[in-house]
Amino acid sequence: MRILGIESSCDETAIAIVSGEGERVVVEKNLVASQVLTHAKYGGVVPEVAAREHVDAIFPLLLEAGVARDGEGIDAIAVTSGPGLVPALRVGVELAKTLAWLWNKPLVGVNHLEGHIYSVWLQSETPPLHHSNISSLHHSITPSLPALCLLVSGGHTELLLMRDHGVYEKLGQTRDDAAGEAFDKAAKVLGLGYPGGPAISKCAAQGKRDAIAFPRPMLESGDLDFSYSGLKTAVAVRHREYPNDTIADVCASFEEAIVESLVTKTMRAVEQHRPASVILAGGVSANTRLRESLHHSTTPPLFVPELKYTGDNAAMIAAAGYFRARANQFVDPLTLEADPNMNLCPSSHSTN
Ligand code: KG4
Ligand code: ZN
Repeated sequence: MRILGIESSCDETAIAIVSGEGERVVVEKNLVASQVLTHAKYGGVVPEVAAREHVDAIFPLLLEAGVARDGEGIDAIAVTSGPGLVPALRVGVELAKTLAWLWNKPLVGVNHLEGHIYSVWLQSETPPLHHSNISSLHHSITPSLPALCLLVSGGHTELLLMRDHGVYEKLGQTRDDAAGEAFDKAAKVLGLGYPGGPAISKCAAQGKRDAIAFPRPMLESGDLDFSYSGLKTAVAVRHREYPNDTIADVCASFEEAIVESLVTKTMRAVEQHRPASVILAGGVSANTRLRESLHHSTTPPLFVPELKYTGDNAAMIAAAGYFRARANQFVDPLTLEADPNMNLCPSSHSTN
């Protein structure tokens, strides 16, 4: 089954084509137009600006992907319909609805977070020549279910139990800021620019992880929730009161505090739920320290996306769409709407 994937929930416009067969999802095209440089000027994503840039980028990407004008060769269309920024989401959703209607093809509305989870199912058509042994771990096999998913992005930090394809239970989540948001805000305080995650982790590589004893939020809370807003404040206070700290030491100590809390809660969830595999996904899954630390801790097999699929992309949306299409979970192309609060686990208690 060949799926056209469309993603525009935040600051990346993306079009992809994947082909799914059984549990295998092979990426044929994966195109991403990033707006990072535009938003860097504002220190964060401006929704209206993002929407305008999506409109400019999305048709050129569709052409570049070589999609036939009549949709020939495409079996279904998958689009991110939430969560995300409404003006941005609507660009992709309206394109997908129009194409589905014109081509008379089935349409799947994909939850962006489910897309991140399915990034570990993606297989590049040509396997990378040089890859770290961690990013290529279990490259050719797919996660066994139930899988424990640690989802860490700019907007979400959640532990989910994936019982089956499309069936999730939320085990824990952040009570305030997401891990990626904490990286971005700390980087802003330290003058490292946006997005903060890659800048902090680069800087952290030169620093000492035990230089500053930043708090480990909620480590002893007994549940599987997270909290990062206090940590961000701790970085700001420390930076003001100890201006002579090296930035590398601040970054390394901050990164260590985040990684330790993520890994500790993940291990606690593994003990409680005994999953068959562990999935690390979302933009923050690009973090080397987090990958290595989880790799050395987890007992069930760990699955992480290839680096090129950690950030927002449409291949992961198409992969999630493939599994939903396989289960005939289609939506009406005339009524699908962008849903900024789309929830992956409607039955779980949830604050976001
Ligand atoms: O999943 P994503 O691309 O977008 C959302 O769905 O939010 O995640 C973006 C987040 C940003 O907060 C960015 O700073 C963070 O992922 N990030 C990282 C790294 N690369 C990206 N955080 C820590 N270390 C990294 N290497
Ligand atoms: Zn994302």
